Amino acid sequence: MPSKIIKALFVFVLLIQSCKNETLEFPISKVIPAPMSHTYSDAFFTFDQDLIIEKHQQFPLSGNFLEAFFQNNGSILINESVDSPKIQFILDETIENEEGYILDIQKDLITINAKEDAGAFYAVQTLRQLLPEGFEGDDQNMVKTSIRSQRIEDAPRFKYRGMHLDVGRHMYSTDFIKKYIDAIAMLKMNTFHWHLTEDQGWRIEIKKYPKLNEVAAYRNETLIGHYNDQPQQFDGKRYGGYYSQEEIKELVAYAQARHVTIIPEIEMPGHSQAAIAAYPELGCSGEQVEVATKWGVFEDIYCTKDETFDFLEDVLDEVIELFPSEYIHIGGDEAPKTRWKACAECQRRIQSEGLKDEHELQNYFITRIERYLNSKGRQIIGWDEILEGGLAPNATVMSWRGINGAIEAAKKGHNVVMTPTSHCYFDYYQSEGDNEPLAIGGFLPLEKVYSFEPIPKELTAEQSKHVLGAQANMWTEYMPTSDQVEYMLFPRILAISEVGWTTKANKNYEAFVPRVEHFVNRLELLEYNYANHLYEVEEQLNFSEGKISYGLSTLTEGKDIRYTLNGDEPTANSELYETPLLIDSTVLVQSAVFKDNERLGSILEKKFNFHKGVGQKISLNVEPHPSYNSGGIEALINSVKGSDTRYGDKEWLGFWGEDVEITIDLSEMTHIESISTRFHNGKGQWIYAPKQMLLFLDDNQVILEEIFPRETTHANVNVPVNQTAKKIRISIPNYGIIPEGVQGAGNKAWTFIDEIRIN
Ligand code: ACM
Ligand code: ZN
Repeated sequence: MPSKIIKALFVFVLLIQSCKNETLEFPISKVIPAPMSHTYSDAFFTFDQDLIIEKHQQFPLSGNFLEAFFQNNGSILINESVDSPKIQFILDETIENEEGYILDIQKDLITINAKEDAGAFYAVQTLRQLLPEGFEGDDQNMVKTSIRSQRIEDAPRFKYRGMHLDVGRHMYSTDFIKKYIDAIAMLKMNTFHWHLTEDQGWRIEIKKYPKLNEVAAYRNETLIGHYNDQPQQFDGKRYGGYYSQEEIKELVAYAQARHVTIIPEIEMPGHSQAAIAAYPELGCSGEQVEVATKWGVFEDIYCTKDETFDFLEDVLDEVIELFPSEYIHIGGDEAPKTRWKACAECQRRIQSEGLKDEHELQNYFITRIERYLNSKGRQIIGWDEILEGGLAPNATVMSWRGINGAIEAAKKGHNVVMTPTSHCYFDYYQSEGDNEPLAIGGFLPLEKVYSFEPIPKELTAEQSKHVLGAQANMWTEYMPTSDQVEYMLFPRILAISEVGWTTKANKNYEAFVPRVEHFVNRLELLEYNYANHLYEVEEQLNFSEGKISYGLSTLTEGKDIRYTLNGDEPTANSELYETPLLIDSTVLVQSAVFKDNERLGSILEKKFNFHKGVGQKISLNVEPHPSYNSGGIEALINSVKGSDTRYGDKEWLGFWGEDVEITIDLSEMTHIESISTRFHNGKGQWIYAPKQMLLFLDDNQVILEEIFPRETTHANVNVPVNQTAKKIRISIPNYGIIPEGVQGAGNKAWTFIDEIRIN
């Protein structure tokens, strides 16, 4: 065949394919985050060899970005030729939101209307996602591809849409920081919160204090494995480095060109052991400490003497020169007060300022820094501990220990950013599978991120105006490589982008999943590593008359679920799942998702281990914490044990600071051999097994005063009973306040409890 015909045929096939792509079932196309409104018409915009981009002088960044996008691919030439298809930027003052836009794709013309460059930039990101993924790489065959005519009107729900990165625990190349910013910008997020100083390393060049870079930037070695492992082990290798001011300037400019603001975080008064290692006079005792080599919370924090403020003001002077952001993040979290209590200077400060205690001293610290930054035209933002002892007058609060900090601050008229651990901590596991790379703990699957609603229901409409938006955090203790950061980032950043951008009415997880499935192709071309748990079987457990109804599903389209009950791995020949299975005895169900004859995801193993409590009546004196109650209270007696490594699954229930009382009514007198359960220990996550558990049978107390182990991941409890009873009551007093010197000191401990087996 002559080559011209082959080429024509090829182009024809491409055309058919791209038309086919655009008529997929899900109408909001494939754009993430989902736009506000979207209408299709019948024509197609088809690329030719030449393309006109009619830029607008008001939108320089967007025009340049779009031009560079086509140039990087290289298959389409940008020029002025008259008859070519055209993309045109239009200044449109009628658009209200500075980040809003209208993207109108017609037969030979694409128009982008916006009021500001930011809006035009987001239109470009939408257009980019509507184009075939091939444009992202160097695929030279993009000529003649088509996109369906459509009109998108769009604007963000929240004005703050953030992604954080900790470079204190581990640091990454400037190229990677750019790639991280690229991801933020592509998903219409506008803030990169860069956590630059930590106990384990100071990462920003400060010219006035060279020892910050010679000493504070390096630690002697690093903890290997999990913090909770006993004994702790270290790698014996020096680790560190910092970003020079030149590198930082380049990154700030890179981010600005993508409408991303970098908010630098300089931690104080806590998480500053590295700085104190370099300049011991900044601490209370003046003693030499080392840059921390393991994770956690450390007692050596900045002293409140004037010299510390002189130092911090000098540091902040250089920081604000580098970062033009309105906000400077001053940390404020996890600052143990041990040193301040024993320090003559700090006690003098409490006296001279008429403060009540060390908590008010923390407020003094933050307020003094706020005054300084306000005098330089900047605002502070800090973790919710800055509410301690009163809130600095103009501070914005980043609520991470749940949402109460946000509620309190917003009620007082302060702005807040929502980043609760329960939905926004991307250092948590994203699957319950056993093959996940080591992570800090927790469980935060894609769906839970997606379900996050940033406006607390406790706030009135007026108060909720103080909710600026949401942010996800990437703490990197367990992410030594940028590959691992990407794995923890994707696909969850797709979900948080939609939390920040998409209207509540347009959010729908089932519609989101196919878009994620599609988006993965783009991630491949952009060479982002990502986790893919889309093909894990999802399960639904319900009780009906003492039996368990076990439903299986997959959110992805065109797949089958197959299962076995005999202990064999499911294959393409195993039983096809159709309706929920009724479970009434001990059995192992194994299931997996199949496409044609191929298994796609991992095998879900579910062991039902029946006992006398299964399906009986259960009641509690308190509700489990809403973040750790996904299985409901029946999860305690549903025959299924919780994960051995995690505590955030559907089987563990979590309670924060409350004494818990559980009543199980067996409906008739039943002989009980023993009762067993277990509690989770995770000091790093503020989780403590209780000091004792009390057991009452038909209101007679039989067991008390058991002291449970605290050094192992689980405190296992097995109480021999050998009696007959109908009603069982279990009383679990909370561990209490977390002691000084460890993570979460001064806060209430969490209690996590697993299945209660009545044998
Ligand atoms: C934090 O996670 N310590 C803010
Ligand atoms: Zn002191």
